[in-house]
Amino acid sequence: MNEFIPPYPPRLPTEPRPWTRLRLARTNTVAIWEESAFTLDFSHERVFTRTTFLCNSPESVQFAFNLKNASFERKGPQTRHALEPLIGDSLFISDGETWRQRRQIVAPILHASRLGYFAKVMVETADELRESWAGLSGEVDVLEEMAHLAAEIICRATFGRQLGRDYTCETFQSFTDYQQAISQIDLISFLGLPDWMPRFRSANVRRAQRRIHRVLDAMIADYRSRPATEEPSVISRLLDARGPDGKPLDEVTLRNEAAMLFLAGHETTANTMAWVWFLLSQCPDVEARLHAELDQVLGGRLPTLADLRQLTYTQAVVEETLRLYPPLPILPREVLQEETFNGVRIPKGSMVFVVPWLLHRHRRLWDKPDHFIPERFLPGSKEPVSKYAFVPFSIGPRVCAGQSFALTETILCVATLAQHFRPRLRPGHVVEPVCRLTLRPDGGLPMTMEPRSPTPAPMH
Ligand code: HEM
Repeated sequence: MNEFIPPYPPRLPTEPRPWTRLRLARTNTVAIWEESAFTLDFSHERVFTRTTFLCNSPESVQFAFNLKNASFERKGPQTRHALEPLIGDSLFISDGETWRQRRQIVAPILHASRLGYFAKVMVETADELRESWAGLSGEVDVLEEMAHLAAEIICRATFGRQLGRDYTCETFQSFTDYQQAISQIDLISFLGLPDWMPRFRSANVRRAQRRIHRVLDAMIADYRSRPATEEPSVISRLLDARGPDGKPLDEVTLRNEAAMLFLAGHETTANTMAWVWFLLSQCPDVEARLHAELDQVLGGRLPTLADLRQLTYTQAVVEETLRLYPPLPILPREVLQEETFNGVRIPKGSMVFVVPWLLHRHRRLWDKPDHFIPERFLPGSKEPVSKYAFVPFSIGPRVCAGQSFALTETILCVATLAQHFRPRLRPGHVVEPVCRLTLRPDGGLPMTMEPRSPTPAPMH
């Protein structure tokens, strides 16, 4: 059994002062916990003006995110205020009736039943990267490579293969600028001050926001001006969609939803793939077992959607990566209506957190919680002990609408590339997980992609 413990930030001494947490939260939001936090089930504490509740047991996660979702469906103010200039009232940050209407439109577009077309886009794009790596000598930053791959895939899936390809670089650069420009912690929200108080937005944020809107408006106009295609791209479905009044979505709603999908759907998957490469580079036994499965099932050919059923170990590697490094490690919610859990009153206006970073490493829910052991996700394993103990995509009515898309994408891309390359981390490079908007390896992943030849699959 693999004994590798992947890196995590140092744990805080017991009972740190609130200001210590705030200081750390500004640079790395997964560095703010002490060891005892990994044993908590349901707890609460006062943070400045607000009481915050931590749901860290399967029962409390089920309570907040599923059974009583309506009382906890509003995203935290930090998330809403950071993203609102970019994605308006789109699915990711809306709640109430707006959220319900948008969910009804967007979720079916990304549903598993539509994955056939998306899977082709994913494999085709990953194969282009394989070709470009084939001529490579020296190092690449694998985090950056995965960011480009995921951006390319979501752009082609959203705007169709040709238009997506034409515009990816510009879209990617504008989103990167925006993410760099928004500050990690908005102090007004952190201190629990009201929503109506104006937030400071730097000129850089406003500039990046305008640029993204310009790019997306141009892409939508360009899409409309081209001859109709049969491609079931996301934008074609959004253009066909009708609101409850029977009318098509207006231009701003259309742009907001397209921006939201790009935002929700590229960095999360990119980071997951980057972590997979890092973990493989550290665990030769896992890498060998993965190669054995890929050779057995694919034998060097490109994967298809139909192969997923057989790629159980590849899927387990991806799921174990999501357990250790959930791209969205903290899921904050604002309480809309008072509730009581286990006799504890959760008042309206307080904050509730589900923290995959803690839950996925909970001392009583997982055996060797800090180890990388993909086998725990193989069929027949006793883990996870509950579906509410493993929530990288959240759970309940607000579960990630792109969950099947993302899992399919990660597995197909890893399968396409891992058949032909072994990732080797630059010797001496220290990897540290850091979370600003999403959880990623700080400073990137300088790696050499060593070529390998897949063994042809046995004849059946
Ligand atoms: C490994 C990749 C991904 C992970 C780990 C992930 C995780 C999540 C999580 C945790 C949420 C809930 C956030 C919260 O409650 O604050 C979420 C929401 C969402 N995700 Fe993903 N996501 C991934 C990829 C994608 C992709 C590829 C797409 C689109 C193609 C997507 C679309 C969405 C949407 C639309 C929502 C909002 C759903 C709603 O509020 O109803 N995600 N995702």
